Amino acid sequence: MCGIVGYTGTKQAYPIIIKGLKRLEYRGYDSTGVALLNSGLKVFKKKGKVAELEETLVGEDLHGFAGIGHTRWATHGEPNDQNAHPHQSSSGKLAMIHNGIIENYASLKKELISKGYNFTSDTDSEVLLNFIEEIKTKNNCDLEEAIRIALKRVVGAYVILLIDEDNPGTIIAARKGSPLVIGIGKNEHFLGSDASPMLEYTKEVVYVNDYELAIVKPNELILKNLGNEILTPFVQKLDIELAAIEKGGFDYFMLKEIYEQPTTIFDCLRGRLDVENGTIQMAGVQDNLDKLINANRIIILACGTSWHAGLIAEYIFEELCRTSVEVEYASEFRYRNPIIIPGDVIIAISQSGETADTLVAIENAKEKGAFIFGIVNVVGSSIARTSHAGAYTHAGSEIGVASTKAFTAQLAVLTMVALKIAKEKNTISNERYRSCLNELNDVPVKVSKILESNDLIKSIAEKYKNFTNFLYLGRGYNFPIALEGALKLKEISYIHASGYPAAEMKHGPIALVDDSLPVVFIATKDSNIEKTISNMQEIKARKGKIISIITENDESAISVSNELIAVPAADEIVAPMLNVIPLQLLAYYIGIAKGCDVDKPRNLAKSVTVE
Ligand code: F6R
Repeated sequence: MCGIVGYTGTKQAYPIIIKGLKRLEYRGYDSTGVALLNSGLKVFKKKGKVAELEETLVGEDLHGFAGIGHTRWATHGEPNDQNAHPHQSSSGKLAMIHNGIIENYASLKKELISKGYNFTSDTDSEVLLNFIEEIKTKNNCDLEEAIRIALKRVVGAYVILLIDEDNPGTIIAARKGSPLVIGIGKNEHFLGSDASPMLEYTKEVVYVNDYELAIVKPNELILKNLGNEILTPFVQKLDIELAAIEKGGFDYFMLKEIYEQPTTIFDCLRGRLDVENGTIQMAGVQDNLDKLINANRIIILACGTSWHAGLIAEYIFEELCRTSVEVEYASEFRYRNPIIIPGDVIIAISQSGETADTLVAIENAKEKGAFIFGIVNVVGSSIARTSHAGAYTHAGSEIGVASTKAFTAQLAVLTMVALKIAKEKNTISNERYRSCLNELNDVPVKVSKILESNDLIKSIAEKYKNFTNFLYLGRGYNFPIALEGALKLKEISYIHASGYPAAEMKHGPIALVDDSLPVVFIATKDSNIEKTISNMQEIKARKGKIISIITENDESAISVSNELIAVPAADEIVAPMLNVIPLQLLAYYIGIAKGCDVDKPRNLAKSVTVE
């Protein structure tokens, strides 16, 4: 979490940094700050979003050919002006931005206070900065050396960018556990938490690895490890276009990303699914078929929406591949002492590829000998690089904080992986296999059809926007979709919502039901539909308001529903990719109707790089 940007070169740094921060606001938006090296060091920072800082800086001297900028997601210390980054060292000569958490900051702070240091913020970051300055002064060494010594004593995760008034033009960066990309331009370099701040300037980037330190000047990039050995930067070509990170005429990224799903699912299937020849080409699966087919057990690790995709995968893998599957919250798994036995395969699912809990959980499992298969959206991200093999979801940049298109792309990849394993394992009949390939192939067109219900869903949202609690219910493959629908509503509109398996409703939540409770049923035609209809009757008998997602031309739920949203008929293994679309739109329009900033819901950040 937190977005970091840096620039050193021949252009004015401020406009590049501000534009970059706006692109990184998905990572946090509690406060914003910029430090510039002009004649001397200048720091401007403020509680609030980037645009708010920008407004207050009109008329200021913002010249400078080097600078750093930060958009914060608060961990230590409330969001206020003092806790905003960049922090300045006690001498006032150094400025630093930080993404991550310094776990041993309290003991370092005590040590520094005993040496006479004062602190102006409550942050762990200011402690690290003064610790670096203390080492620099005490050892009479340069900043680079001081950083190296300091980082050897630091416990935690970080990306830090430092500038020094005495050394204008140089940015020193270091990383452990949080992402850092350096863009290489002509007589200029860009730094960012991801590549979005540099897209219009360069396509050549270096992904910095953990325990590496970069000394970045306009004409020079030196990469070293913490042992001071020089490393050769591995320069990669970006294949993201600027248009992919712009709103393209939509009011919000979330709506744009919901509407992109026919294309993103198609892109995900393209080149992999060959319906005519009945094949699925996935190099990551093909090269590791032995491990995947003979897996003793598959453990799926993920968080949030990605975890919901994992739950659906559990149903799919068990049905098609007859492999035993466990789906775990990465945040719980990593703090247990899980039993990993030879033959266990871990599937890690992550949009960002940077979620700290998922990353550490797979590192732990890897140490215990598990084979790690990553399903990740962001190319070159930490989880992608830590996995032994994997498959990208190819959903393109997802900027809206609530995950939408990444989720459906994860489901498309997971379904293909399961089908491929099932085919090789012979746990699926040829007829069912062929029919599943066709069903998958039809998903993009069916998603386009569902998007035509936009106006209907918007009117339902308008009608229900003032209810304060929602229940989402579904069975089988639709139970994780109930969880996902409830999560979307919570995060986007701040309305409390719970997802449950429809049958579990009788074991507690039914006590909540009266005419003030809308209940969203995912009641599409599947093997459990009659049972779901009985649950709907139970809600209706208690005057709950029923909003139903049903299959086109299926009349079974009509008489029990207050509102109906129809989706095309589909096999139950691909139905989740369709059924989630109306729920994404419902959450979006309720959020909009309530005046919420749906792209930047309060307290959230897109990439959760802290534990
Ligand atoms: C919800 C949402 C989060 C993420 C979760 C995991 O809309 O976006 O719940 O799904 O933080 O993130 P990734 O997939 O990047 O590991």
